[in-house]
Amino acid sequence: MKAFENVRGMRDFLPQELAKRRFIESKVRECFQIYGYEEVETPIIEYFELLSMRAGEEIRHRMYAFKDLGGRKVALRPEMTASFARVVATKLRSEAKPLRLGYIANCFRYDNPQMGRYREFWQAGFELFGSSRLEADAEIIIVNNDLMKRLGFSGFFIKIGDVRILRGLLNSEGVSEDDQNTIMGLVDKRKVKSVLTFLEQKKVSDGCLKTVKKLLELRGTDCRKILEDGKRILSQNERSLEALEDLEAIINLARVGGVDTTFLVDVGFARGLEYYTGMIYEVFIPELGIALGGGGRYDKLVELFGGEPTPAVGCAPGIDRIVLAMEKKGLFSGQLSTINRVLIIPVGDDLSAKALEIAANLRRNGISAQNEVVGRNIGSALSYADKKGYAYAIIVGPRELEKGCIILRNMKVKEQKEVHLVNLVNEMSLMTRISLKSI
Ligand code: HAM
Repeated sequence: MKAFENVRGMRDFLPQELAKRRFIESKVRECFQIYGYEEVETPIIEYFELLSMRAGEEIRHRMYAFKDLGGRKVALRPEMTASFARVVATKLRSEAKPLRLGYIANCFRYDNPQMGRYREFWQAGFELFGSSRLEADAEIIIVNNDLMKRLGFSGFFIKIGDVRILRGLLNSEGVSEDDQNTIMGLVDKRKVKSVLTFLEQKKVSDGCLKTVKKLLELRGTDCRKILEDGKRILSQNERSLEALEDLEAIINLARVGGVDTTFLVDVGFARGLEYYTGMIYEVFIPELGIALGGGGRYDKLVELFGGEPTPAVGCAPGIDRIVLAMEKKGLFSGQLSTINRVLIIPVGDDLSAKALEIAANLRRNGISAQNEVVGRNIGSALSYADKKGYAYAIIVGPRELEKGCIILRNMKVKEQKEVHLVNLVNEMSLMTRISLKSI
């Protein structure tokens, strides 16, 4: 018989792995609640045209795109922002703004699988529609920062820039939007030489070449100094200057909003997606060279999809990479709650019905109880309970039952005692500390 493997780049999540992901998701949902982001779900499959419109060459090229049986050109979503802009342009068109929307969703990119890069991966997301103000940019950074803190991270840093800095300069040299997109793609990959060669071919001025070269090297954690240097280099370019001023203001607002994390201002910073129109950022830990999440401002996307002009800013923390980072930093220890479960073992077939009745009663009272259902003897049932990490076992035997009792065994300390059925729920509730309310 053929043993099937996972499709390359696709993963199964077994219980322990899934528990880590669920923990992260619970913290994301805590942030949805506290910051007022309402969760929305959209389909995995969208029109290829919608997804590719401002995705950028890299992502466009890596989409799982195909024709459905009706001949429609569709694709699996490589990210969520396009779908959310579509929803805001259509179904939420007349909703009061600003709109705060959130998601936890799987996305697909035909990337080369490697550490932290998968073909199916999960993004959490916070998208804020309807504000062009810098407070909105700061809010997205504040939420993302808060999420990292709630997950237990310290020592992470935020790399921040603004696409208008480079684009402003390229605009003033008359570089077309298509060529700018190519350049931003190369900058995203840090291919400085290719950027300069491309610009030379486009016959930009020597001054522009020199400035781009300087900008691509201008980055550091002394925000004020980097921004001042940037302003000096770009003193002739109004759009770039405005971007630098805005960056300074956003960082200050984020600081006031409680972000005490290091900012790395990167003047020559670009991200793969083409819809960004302003501030962009990514979150890193020094131990892992890949971004744990990223985002930015995209003021034109809703309009591009037929909606009202709606400025927007958002971010998507990547769940898979956050798992890796938390493992690296040992942040899961003590975080993953375990439910104290009990296995109910009847001694002999004629007590199976009684064991079912006891389990039903425990569950009605919020206690996680499972029946031994394969007719094993006590020895092998207890060894199964041990292997599966059961906290307790209840042995339903004829002798004890005659007195209205069962045997309650603590699997950890391997001690047991007789407990009257009338007292069982009370006794178990105290020990397992789960009540219906907390489930
Ligand atoms: P992105 O930077 O392409 O941005 O993805 C956001 C995060 O998703 C990345 O930082 C990373 O953690 C995770 N990610 C991306 N690709 C993979 C992969 N192949 N395997 C594992 N994790 C991955 C966006 O997608 C934008 N939509 C973010 C945004 C929201 N901008 C505005 N609003």
